[in-house]
Amino acid sequence: MSIVSLVRPEIQALRAYDAAEQLDDTIRLNANESPQISSIGNFRRPLNRYPEVRPQRLQAALAGRFGCSSDQILVTRGSSEAIDLIIRTFCRSGEDHILTPTPAFSMYRHYAIIQGAGVVEVQTVAECDFAIDVDALLAACDAHTKVIFVCSPNNPTGTPLPRADLLRLLDQRRSQSAVVVDEAYIEFGDEQSVIELLNSYPNLLVLRTLSKALGFAGVRCGAVAGAQEIIALLSAIQAPYALATPVVECVEDALNDDQLIIAANAVKQVIAERSRLMSAISNYDFVSKVWPSEANFFLIRVDDAVAMMNHCKAHKVLLRHFGGELADCIRITVGSQSDNDTLLSVLNRFAKD
Ligand SMILES: Cc1ncc(COP(=O)(O)O)c(C=O)c1O
Repeated sequence: MSIVSLVRPEIQALRAYDAAEQLDDTIRLNANESPQISSIGNFRRPLNRYPEVRPQRLQAALAGRFGCSSDQILVTRGSSEAIDLIIRTFCRSGEDHILTPTPAFSMYRHYAIIQGAGVVEVQTVAECDFAIDVDALLAACDAHTKVIFVCSPNNPTGTPLPRADLLRLLDQRRSQSAVVVDEAYIEFGDEQSVIELLNSYPNLLVLRTLSKALGFAGVRCGAVAGAQEIIALLSAIQAPYALATPVVECVEDALNDDQLIIAANAVKQVIAERSRLMSAISNYDFVSKVWPSEANFFLIRVDDAVAMMNHCKAHKVLLRHFGGELADCIRITVGSQSDNDTLLSVLNRFAKD
């Protein structure tokens, strides 16, 4: 059963922006563009023209890569934009809420607050390696739980959500909540993407990004995959021409076979470096815990997180400290071999001080 009925009524009624038609081999006098073609950059498409309202070729290429059909995917400005679009599509201000385990990626809460939607958080437990407790999530649901965000592997804990647990969540909330699985770090772990479940679960939405494994954070490109009618509604609220011509062409190039091989090798390298770094770091006396991780980062618990952060920063190495429930924890992104060597030598000095 479709979850379109969960969508805000005014969004259900919204019609997509009626953009000026774009046809090849025509004289375009319908979009108030300049006839002046810029010579800046080396782009395949002229920059005096608007980009496609939605980049069709890119959409097809990403659909092929991620394993769904073209009408099941919307290309977004990073997956961050998809988070915003989903919350605005489903959550009525002052009435509905999102549900998410915590700690989690802070943008779910951020965009919910901007939309005036509530945020219900279910604590995960450090002693259980921050495993997502699906029963606790289900117990926290009510009629206003429009969107459930689960990130797998989770940022900042690195924990994956086992497929069986996700299936239970999808089944139990079938026509009552959109379940968003954020796969920003999926390439670094053992779990397969759940995009293949889209045809069985109309309440499933999957987020993917080019910012991590593919190495294109600077380009700002991601995607949301889901049931065709939900994708059409998300598309209706996304800004027209959201993806700029230089971005579209850069991502088309990034998806060439040669580039994909380079990216896959970089992922292998990060995974190998992750185990090297984790085992080296677990040997320091000031580190009391290194949590397992299926992402390109891992979380550690240390005696004095602020002192360690300051020491590393003084030696020009930046790590991430979140405070709050993670006040004694630090998240370390796995860098290049030489970056990681530098981190270890900085930490050797910290150990001696
Ligand atoms: C879990 C998770 N989801 C989504 C994003 C957003 O990524 P982007 O907007 O670059 O695609 C991030 C970025 O750090 C993230 O950690």
